[in-house]
Amino acid sequence: MSRLIVVSNRVSMPSPDGAQGGLAVALQAALRESGGLWFGWSGREVEEFTGSVNFEESDGVRSAVVDLEAQDVEEYYNGFANRTLWPLFHYRVDIAKYNRSFGEGYERVNRRFAEPLHVMIEPDDVVWINDYHLIPMAMLLRDRGVRNRIGFFLHTPWPPTRLLVSLPYHERLVRSMFFYDVIGFQTEEWLESFRHYCEHELGGRSEGEYIHVGEKMVRAVVCPIGIDFKNFREASETREANAIAERMRTSLRQLTMIVGVDRLDYSKGIEERLNSFEHLLHTHEELHRSVVLIQVAPPSRGEVEQYQKVREKLNELAGRINGEFAEVDWTPIRYVNRGYARAELTALYRAARVGLVTPLRDGMNLVAKEYIAAQDPEDPGVLILSRFAGAASQMKEALLVNPYSPEEVAEALQQALKMPLSERKRRFESLLDGVRTEDVHWWREKFVAMITETKVPPGKG
Ligand code: ADP
Ligand code: F6P
Repeated sequence: MSRLIVVSNRVSMPSPDGAQGGLAVALQAALRESGGLWFGWSGREVEEFTGSVNFEESDGVRSAVVDLEAQDVEEYYNGFANRTLWPLFHYRVDIAKYNRSFGEGYERVNRRFAEPLHVMIEPDDVVWINDYHLIPMAMLLRDRGVRNRIGFFLHTPWPPTRLLVSLPYHERLVRSMFFYDVIGFQTEEWLESFRHYCEHELGGRSEGEYIHVGEKMVRAVVCPIGIDFKNFREASETREANAIAERMRTSLRQLTMIVGVDRLDYSKGIEERLNSFEHLLHTHEELHRSVVLIQVAPPSRGEVEQYQKVREKLNELAGRINGEFAEVDWTPIRYVNRGYARAELTALYRAARVGLVTPLRDGMNLVAKEYIAAQDPEDPGVLILSRFAGAASQMKEALLVNPYSPEEVAEALQQALKMPLSERKRRFESLLDGVRTEDVHWWREKFVAMITETKVPPGKG
């Protein structure tokens, strides 16, 4: 059996308290089975980059990490990854920053990763690169003589061509993707945009799943990520989770809960969501004192100005809406900025009658799937989902909404709050079926099989 080498910006090793994201759990299982390795940034900043690799082994999973120096973190992670590509890939050309030093830092750090990585790769290994931080990695590995199968999975959307061309050196970035054997996208829509770019900007042509550009070709596929369903479901049924859910219900007395859980990011549409909730309160006075919106948003990427701005904006907005509507015995919005353990999160989802997941643009959105997995099958809640989340292509039984329209979101909230049990169950059962079958293990097995089975043209493999 060949080894799997997973490469991502962040490396997540098994932790003693078992608090792990679904992606980490799935990849760790694969790495354990194949005796593989997870390579990436340690998350640490050092005075000067040395290139030395720290190996670690935990619960049968091996990792290899490198430290970066301050300039690397600023230009590669805070710069090109999170000030340039992240907004651009989420259709926000208006806030994307095109600073040449970011591009240079991005390429430098990718080279700094490729250097130690290429010597660790053995002839039979299957290499799997993840996300927008590491797009040129296959090209850099091929330059260093790596002939193995290499796949790339993009966790974010891929932008329409007319937006992507606003990126200086866009062609150089996309051409570097033709050194992969397979490229995976979350949805057909992102894959179509990629194909469109290749055909219109690079003069490429498509033949089934393969895209040809000059002498080069790559297989481009759709493979939507799922959650660790079994693990999540079990966590939601533990005594601890039930006790927390009960405590929440008691603390909220007779209030009906609507929940939003997101990393604090402008792409998640939290501001628009609060505006929609405000619209609901304006138009439905009978809901005063009977509903509460719990919005959990742990801060992320705090060194990037746009993230600081959205944080300030949300503090101000939540305060203003509460100031306008609150009574001495009722606060309409509970806005919390911290992370929660798995049991607490599942309890929160289960206690909420409505899961309000309204990103303005999202590669997939795992919260939507987690909300469904955590529901009580006898009394399930209703998922309201943005049509602009990748998850909407699989979760058609959710109430799909346009997150930019406060009226539409408020109407969906009304519909969800009034929905009879029979309809809630019907929608839930259909959604649950998808979340259960197309889980994170299904995704990982399918994508790794695609990398392994893909025909490699001469000169690549
Ligand atoms: P993204 O990858 O852009 O952050 P996703 O919705 O796909 O968005 O994944 C977010 C993950 O982060 C989910 O697994 C979710 O449970 C987790 N998460 C979000 N907010 C919190 C929180 N406050 N506490 C713990 N986990 C959280
Ligand atoms: O899903 C997109 C993504 O950027 C992942 O690659 C990453 O693990 C997650 O969001 C959190 O972002 P960050 O690593 O920048 O905190």
